[in-house]
Amino acid sequence: MPVETVLYNARVFANGRITRGGIAIEDGKIFRIAKEINLPIAVNKVDLKGCLAIPGLVDVHVHLRGQMQAYKEDFFTGTSAAVAGGITTLLDMPNNEPVTMDSGSLKERMRDARSNILANVGFYSALPESLDEIHRVAQCGAIGFKLYLNSQIGGIGIDDDDKLLEAFKEIRELGIPIAVHAEDKEMIEKVSKIQQSLGFVDINAYLKAHTTNVETKAVRRILKIAHRSKAHIHFCHVSSDKTIFLIQKARKEGAAVSCEGTPHHLLLSSECLKNLGHISLTDPPVRTGKVMRKLWEALRNAQIDIIASDHAPHSIGEKKGDAVWNVKPGIPGLETLLPLFLTKVNEGQITLENLVRLTAQKPCEIFSLQGRGSLKEGYNADITIIDLHRQSRIDASRFYSKAKYSPFDKWSVKGIPVKTFVNGVLVMDEGKIVENAGAARILRGKALLM
Ligand code: DOR
Ligand code: ZN
Ligand code: ZN
Repeated sequence: MPVETVLYNARVFANGRITRGGIAIEDGKIFRIAKEINLPIAVNKVDLKGCLAIPGLVDVHVHLRGQMQAYKEDFFTGTSAAVAGGITTLLDMPNNEPVTMDSGSLKERMRDARSNILANVGFYSALPESLDEIHRVAQCGAIGFKLYLNSQIGGIGIDDDDKLLEAFKEIRELGIPIAVHAEDKEMIEKVSKIQQSLGFVDINAYLKAHTTNVETKAVRRILKIAHRSKAHIHFCHVSSDKTIFLIQKARKEGAAVSCEGTPHHLLLSSECLKNLGHISLTDPPVRTGKVMRKLWEALRNAQIDIIASDHAPHSIGEKKGDAVWNVKPGIPGLETLLPLFLTKVNEGQITLENLVRLTAQKPCEIFSLQGRGSLKEGYNADITIIDLHRQSRIDASRFYSKAKYSPFDKWSVKGIPVKTFVNGVLVMDEGKIVENAGAARILRGKALLM
């Protein structure tokens, strides 16, 4: 019996090395990885023309928006952007309208997503107030919980350490990670008010209100609760080496903590922020070149576990404004992450092996996405084909995302995704979306429910 699909004339990144051959796909799964003569016959044969097959990227930090915020992004445009960028699985953030914060809102979001997604999607929920609701959210299949410390989102009072400890203990029993946006609300508000009262409206004033100390204060606070609860904490978008130092220390002391870096914190500095203006405004903001280099060190020596886009699209109107205080923070990132980092591979700043670890293997390990994140027989056929030698230029006006701007617009890149397979189905080919929504799945977490 022939299998469904064979990808041939490829180089395949599997088991930490590249071998010539191909991949046979059956029932949406990788059936065999082998030299060409050992591949089975297939109904569909796809010539990869010597390109490189890597595990589809898994982006654990994406704001797909939709619902009342569909004017910024929706499930179809967001997941189109994902697969155009070689991302086959993503985790959706809960700061939506309505906020994803209980079983009802989570189910509604899953229902809306079902027939509109091109990439596999798992969901975070904000923390509900009651422990029973935490259980119900886990039962519904949330992959993670998300805690914002910079603003009150969700049911739990973010200033109440005792409540947080109680919730963290409960979530630990369920075996689900808690992702944290670590910026201290009180510190931000205090300095913002002073800056505003002095009449400052520029990015400098914003940076004063969102210092690295704002981050470390929140991280210290959460690490204490992490130690006491033993919950798995994942720190989103770490922006400073001081934070990484604290996380490393906690790890050595036995806490279950992980963290992610974003392309913007790794590739943009506050010096260029002033030239780029409001479109590159994000929380936490990008830091000095010196800090950025330290983040790269942490990335290379595996102190940063994951690269995630923090794709946070807004309408172009929301990114403009005379006063920085009126500008929505957030940068679209799904379509730029992979080309930017393949360029770094070509420049010798990061190995391909490390990039695959940071963008596929580790995300799946940390968020317990089984059967994904590597090219292995029996694993899901989520496969990104890259041309490592292709030169291109980022063109934000051609994004699938509704947010057609980027601080990386016009950047030259070398290395781009040329085909994306989701569950064995070709969804993106040479930059074009070639499939209707439907091949992708909603991923449900496997909480340890008693
Ligand atoms: O810059 C940001 N944008 N940081 C956040 O934490 C939220 C995000 C958004 O949703 O726009
Ligand atoms: Zn955040
Ligand atoms: Zn975010």
